[in-house]
Amino acid sequence: MDTDILVVGTGIAGLFFSLKIPSKYKVTIVTKKGKEDTSTNLAQGGIAAVFAKDDSFELHIRDTLRIGEGLSNPTGVELMVKEAPRLVKELHTLGTQFTLNEKGEFDLGREAAHSRRRIVHAKDLTGKSIENALFKKVIESENIEIIEDRLALDLAILNNRCIGIWTLNSLKDKIEFISSKVTLLATGGVGGLYLYTTNPSVSTGDGIAMAKRCGIKVANMEFIQFHPTSLYLEFPSERSFLISESVRGEGAILVLKNGKSFMKKYHPSGSLAPRDVVARSITKELKMTGDKCVYLNLSKISPERIINRFPNIYNNCKAYGIDITKQPIPCIPSAHYLCGGILVDENGFTGIDGLYAAGETSCVGVHGANRLASNSLLESIVFSERAAYRSINNISNERFQPPEYKTGKKTMQSKDIEAIRKKIKKTMWDKLGVIRNVREMIDAETEISLLAKEFDTKWEKEIKPTFEFSNLRNMITVARSIITSALKRKESRGLHWVEDYPYKDPAYKRDTIDE
Ligand code: SIN
Repeated sequence: MDTDILVVGTGIAGLFFSLKIPSKYKVTIVTKKGKEDTSTNLAQGGIAAVFAKDDSFELHIRDTLRIGEGLSNPTGVELMVKEAPRLVKELHTLGTQFTLNEKGEFDLGREAAHSRRRIVHAKDLTGKSIENALFKKVIESENIEIIEDRLALDLAILNNRCIGIWTLNSLKDKIEFISSKVTLLATGGVGGLYLYTTNPSVSTGDGIAMAKRCGIKVANMEFIQFHPTSLYLEFPSERSFLISESVRGEGAILVLKNGKSFMKKYHPSGSLAPRDVVARSITKELKMTGDKCVYLNLSKISPERIINRFPNIYNNCKAYGIDITKQPIPCIPSAHYLCGGILVDENGFTGIDGLYAAGETSCVGVHGANRLASNSLLESIVFSERAAYRSINNISNERFQPPEYKTGKKTMQSKDIEAIRKKIKKTMWDKLGVIRNVREMIDAETEISLLAKEFDTKWEKEIKPTFEFSNLRNMITVARSIITSALKRKESRGLHWVEDYPYKDPAYKRDTIDE
């Protein structure tokens, strides 16, 4: 199959990029499962942008850089912040149902580490509303086609040019090559590698794994953001339900089982301290008390406000028998967002001709060592638009024959794949979690390297790729990259907290590159 522009992923970055491509080009978007299986669809809080009278670009830039702990790319941050109002207005024009105040202006929420109210939201369903608007536009666009159940297996790179992607057609169980002039990787994050995650299970870092296998640089893979508040359940499901930080922004307080608040002892901003501080504090408290979860007390927010502002959280908790207008919400931290990814410039360019990356898959460097709440949807729109323009200005019309794609013939039993998958998720949770130590990270490295060795030989020589097998292969590649990067950074900075080095070391004030 031939296309002009191939996009992998149907989250905000993939869709926004596709809509920015002129209609004379054929755009094909592939996604490994259904088109709605994206992290964007689950995003609650919102999208940060300067609209308030008491706010300014300088303040949004300062807050973003401060949270990035010295590693953010200042050029990228400035670009992102200054583009935010224009692009948020564009999303609104495209049909996103942002919540408005009585004056008809965007209702601005508050989230941790923002010095002003600047979270534009659609109640607590912001991502879904954005995706609905973008899907509508994509479906209306005759030049754009979405193909579901098409897992990207590997990039085809010839003479430093990406010429397309080998994909697995899961419906036909067949490997098919898609030839393209431009390819965008927008495959989202890596939460699927962790036992507890707010991400959909499809988030196994596929774009990052494909890039790594081609020797493309990835950066800052150690910086995994753990959201402090996901719903604690005695029998957890594959994905943890997020309790948006904006609930704390409206006045909810974190408390222990005995009802006592504890966050002030860790940070002057209490329950609205930066996300990494809150996640670490909860983890420490749970270790000290032996409790399974902490609680979010919403009693300072009126029941009407709760139901009107957080209908999604209210209804989901209700389905689990918790009436959040009367009861506190049991919460634990969960893996939420990857600040690192495929190293790109401010135009999403990977350094391989015709190959771009945007959104959580990529690392422009705007988040540095930690991400400010609601800067992720923002990053996606700003840099996917730039990637679209850059890719079109550099398009090459040459077509190339792909090299042969070698695979084995045997299949691996689903139960064996599942056992390894569970093992990886537990290892990553236990040893590369909120609070790390060198001994456990080395243990994890040994475990995952053994798996990788066995896996690499089987992949090349024996096994035919299936959906589960390919996901597992990607999980192993990405887990190795996270562990390698985490072991390289011998300090604690932002999201990477190591008990052996509980301090920042100026010698590590640089990106961790894994190549
Ligand atoms: C949230 O609603 O708390 C998540 C927002 C984000 O991750 O930026």
